[in-house]
Amino acid sequence: MTDLTGHCVLITGAARGIGAAVAASVVAAGARAGLVDIDADGVRETAHRLGPSAAAATCDITREDQVAAAVQELSGRLGPFTGLVNNAGRNSYADPVAMTTDQWDEVFGVDLKGAWLTARAVLPHMLGARHGSIVNIASLHATLTCPGMFPYAAAKSGLVGLTRSLALEVGPQGVRVNAVSPGYIETDLLAEYFAQSEPDVRQAAVGKHILGRLGTPDDVAAVVAFLLSDAAGFVTGADWSVDGGVSARFA
Ligand code: NAI
Repeated sequence: MTDLTGHCVLITGAARGIGAAVAASVVAAGARAGLVDIDADGVRETAHRLGPSAAAATCDITREDQVAAAVQELSGRLGPFTGLVNNAGRNSYADPVAMTTDQWDEVFGVDLKGAWLTARAVLPHMLGARHGSIVNIASLHATLTCPGMFPYAAAKSGLVGLTRSLALEVGPQGVRVNAVSPGYIETDLLAEYFAQSEPDVRQAAVGKHILGRLGTPDDVAAVVAFLLSDAAGFVTGADWSVDGGVSARFA
């Protein structure tokens, strides 16, 4: 069991899915958890379920004023952050010719720029303490992708690049930065993907997994909690696959 006693972790996109599982996992490991999401009711309910170690703030991670306000509010209630999980993300099903620049900016705002904005807001806490861990939730699509999800792979590849770039900048001051790349994980996001795909896509997806099943949010949360912990103290700049072996099959 990962030990996060004394840690204080900010998690974006924590109202549901992988983010909510990460929040539950870090609280179970002894940490305090700041939960942010654009879904005000959802994030409040998730924090309420987790009890007094969790606090929620409504925040659109693409808006630097909202990110700064949420970090200030939550650190005022919970203390300075020692961990950050950049989890909020969205899929994209755009046509590369019909897509507008505003739509492009919306995708990259959530899937890439928001991670930098949030890291920028919490890094002063970590650099001051010379200790911290940032985990960026990328995707299998950062290395493998499929038709119909333009330009998700570009944004998630960018997030893995941001992970390496930031790891080099802040590593000497004791802050580690890693990515986790989930495969197919059973969440509302995946249900939405299956709903707009051919009917046999779900069964085909299961067949690609060496382990013979799709992943759960808890599968991802366990790896994230480890990377946040001091047990991962010599791990930085890496991209961890949590995909039941899909990437090994197609590498
Ligand atoms: P989800 O759609 O179930 O949850 C995402 C959460 O992020 C929602 O609560 C949503 O309100 C929040 N969010 C969206 N835009 C936001 C914004 N601008 N500001 C603040 N919060 C915002 O998604 P899921 O499946 O839990 O995915 C979490 C992360 O994992 C995402 O980054 C996703 O790209 C990634 N991922 C998911 C996979 C899957 O199969 N579910 C596979 C690979 C990566």
